[in-house]
Amino acid sequence: MTVSINQVMTTSPVMPVMVINQIEQAVPLARALVDGGLKVLEITLRTPVALECIRRIKAEVPDAIVGAGTIINTQTLRQAIDAGAQFIVSPGLTPSLLDEGLSCGVPILPGVITPSEVMRLLEKGITAMKFFPAEAAGGIPMLKSIGGPLPQVTFCPTGGVNPKNAPDYLALNNVACVGGSWMAPADLVDAGDWAEITRRAAGAAALKK
Ligand code: 3PG
Repeated sequence: MTVSINQVMTTSPVMPVMVINQIEQAVPLARALVDGGLKVLEITLRTPVALECIRRIKAEVPDAIVGAGTIINTQTLRQAIDAGAQFIVSPGLTPSLLDEGLSCGVPILPGVITPSEVMRLLEKGITAMKFFPAEAAGGIPMLKSIGGPLPQVTFCPTGGVNPKNAPDYLALNNVACVGGSWMAPADLVDAGDWAEITRRAAGAAALKK
């Protein structure tokens, strides 16, 4: 199923950023998050099994919208698309990654911090961006400031977002959703505590945008 960047940004208020170490964890983890109401999942390419995890979730969890994260070069971008990724997330942007991303056939969510980076993406017609690393890069005051001159951009702040500050991020006009790892931290995933992950996902899914 083809998805739009709008679906990626607005289907759920929180996008889980997932680091999966064991292939066997992929499907139950994705099911736990989807059961809690979070359908848009970012599988980071930070582990050797990440591409296979994308394939399996795509095949076995039909309600999920599966994206690939931590895409930092064109090679991994192509591998992620081949594995079935429905969208691409990057912590930043490079000219070559941007070119490849614009022609890869799925929505891309490149990372930015500064107005100049935002403007470079606007020139390419991109208006949805990841704001990363959100807390370290100035958090809510920074997003408010960028929203003054550049109100046409919608952000997904990620990095240091947690259940406490997520509502304040989501209250901003230029934030559509936030990304975070708190629903599925490594200890819960390794323990196979899917019930707790579903509980956290449900709390995140209930946040108001
Ligand atoms: C990451 O870098 O893993 C993501 O940005 C998630 O960050 P978080 O663990 O602070 O939510």
